[in-house]
Amino acid sequence: MTSQTGPRPIFVLNGPNLNALGVREPAIYGSHTLADIEARCVERAKALGMTVDFRQTNSEGQLVDWLHEARDKACAVVLNAGAYTHTSIALHDAIKSLDIPVIETHLSNPASRESFRHVSTISGVAKGVISGFGPVSYILAVEAAAHCAAVPAP
Ligand code: DQA
Repeated sequence: MTSQTGPRPIFVLNGPNLNALGVREPAIYGSHTLADIEARCVERAKALGMTVDFRQTNSEGQLVDWLHEARDKACAVVLNAGAYTHTSIALHDAIKSLDIPVIETHLSNPASRESFRHVSTISGVAKGVISGFGPVSYILAVEAAAHCAAVPAP
């Protein structure tokens, strides 16, 4: 059995193509890299007395595995599932199986973009959704996660 010291981290999980931030469609996603965003999340979490475990994968199954891992290891999850947001029943089911809050997060505002981005398979099982604020979406999501962890749902 692993021993846990201090509060559990907030898992910040990133899906496909987010490793290309900085060079990928900068007019939509900006010029910040994912490493820049990670540094800002780490800093904000630290100010809130929390830690983050920040990860990226292009694989849907890996995201499912990390959500399962979060059950026992994280206090909350900030999830930018990228395009899997719009297609993945597996992510929906994995989130539904958790009893910790999952905050769906996007840099852009999918509702203002192509119609295929207007559907989210995960919004209905997420605690809430933050989108449209670029890297600040992640900071707001870390704050929401810390709040949820401190104030359990009624
Ligand atoms: C995104 C929005 C998705 O529609 C898109 O597929 C992404 C990024 C965002 O952060 O704005 O990969 O999740």
